[in-house]
Amino acid sequence: MLKDKFLIKGLAGKKKLKGKIAVAGAKNAVLPALASSILFKDKFCISNAPEISDAKYMIELLENLGAETSKKLKKTLCIETKNINRSEINVDISNKLRASIILTGPLLARFGEVSFSHPGGCIIGKRPVNIFLDGYRKMGAKVTEKNGKYHIKIKAEKLEGAKIFLKKVSVTGTETLMLAGVLAKGKTILENSAMEPEIKHLAEFLNSCGAKIKGAGTPIIEITGGGLLSTKGKVYKTLPDRIETGSFLILGALSADNLEITNCIPEHIDSLIELLRQSGISINTQKNKIHIKRNAKVKNNVLNSIEVRTHEYPGFATDLQAPMCVFLTQTTGESKVHETIFEGRLNHTNDLIKMGADITMWNPHQVTVKGPTVLRGKELEGPDLRAGLAYVIAAIIAKGDSVVNNVHYIDRGYEKIEERLRDIGVDIKRVNQ
Ligand code: UD1
Repeated sequence: MLKDKFLIKGLAGKKKLKGKIAVAGAKNAVLPALASSILFKDKFCISNAPEISDAKYMIELLENLGAETSKKLKKTLCIETKNINRSEINVDISNKLRASIILTGPLLARFGEVSFSHPGGCIIGKRPVNIFLDGYRKMGAKVTEKNGKYHIKIKAEKLEGAKIFLKKVSVTGTETLMLAGVLAKGKTILENSAMEPEIKHLAEFLNSCGAKIKGAGTPIIEITGGGLLSTKGKVYKTLPDRIETGSFLILGALSADNLEITNCIPEHIDSLIELLRQSGISINTQKNKIHIKRNAKVKNNVLNSIEVRTHEYPGFATDLQAPMCVFLTQTTGESKVHETIFEGRLNHTNDLIKMGADITMWNPHQVTVKGPTVLRGKELEGPDLRAGLAYVIAAIIAKGDSVVNNVHYIDRGYEKIEERLRDIGVDIKRVNQ
């Protein structure tokens, strides 16, 4: 694999970025939408699909199963799943993306069996699959596991509706079991479900195509199973990426002269906006855009320290924790970060320390950040998708030049990020190694 890197010239704390930056379709919306194509008897098309490598891998997985895919317009993909002839998810591709597990729900429900290996993805914690397996057992499937490979087979003719309490609030767990319930016999009730907007939005689309899902977007989802769905020509439109929106907003708060973030849904990042405002940043939101200016109003140029606690939606997204840590290096006093979702997701702070940040890790879930500190340009190894983008933000505000390696992680979820950043004034170059 070609390993690209970014060369970034830091702004040394100056507020220079200006113009408009548009948010792309959400990775975490397009992946479950792609998996849901298996529930349809006709062609399923997705617009505003981001051009990211995770979506490419998901399409490769569907093709490997026998689905036919095509590209209508630049950002519109179509999938036809009637010729799927395999129920084994390709190991090599699923090693690259955790969300491949979402395919298991619709495959099991439609074809009666599925095999898959423990999925890969970002190394940010243990990432078990017990919620999926427990759910399938409850729905009347037999689960066999051998050497990290799972085989699930339904015992009766159809998957059976069941009441399932999710032991932890899991986003893909909720999505996968919800999709399985659409083709199950009878009613499936998911308690302690995740409430992410991508789940509600997908459920609404599925309902418009014949599914019967109630309560998506709340902790209790009720699905009445039925037959295959039909789009009848309707197109699923991918929601704007709220994590990208939040990352651009943090970048803007740190280094914008006058920046407009367009094609976004500000209310999806209310928790972040609230914290940034508490810190002293003034942010102007409209229905689909956010405007952020050089914050002349910030008293004596001092940003207040804050407390950040990651939480399931609508709480502060764990996916925004790494960029937020970069922001906190520029606040005055001591800020606290409590990462409650994953146990390996604060390791990126070691690199921020190398850049000059004053961060203390108390345990794998908690750090304090003292600031403000000047960050200095360094060579950094992006450790995962979200932290990779946080390093790009750190490099942009730093004094001096930085190299961010492992850009393939960033490419998993952010479409041509360097081109979009260049358009608002960032000095960033992609180099093939
Ligand atoms: C999704 C998002 C990811 C985000 C994460 C948390 C997608 C494609 N990815 O990942 O960007 O960082 O939500 O918001 O939407 N857990 C179990 N057993 C399971 C499954 C999960 O214990 O079977 C635990 C995990 O270890 C974690 C917590 O549940 O502590 C939440 O993880 P989960 O919501 O499942 O993350 P993903 O859906 O993989």
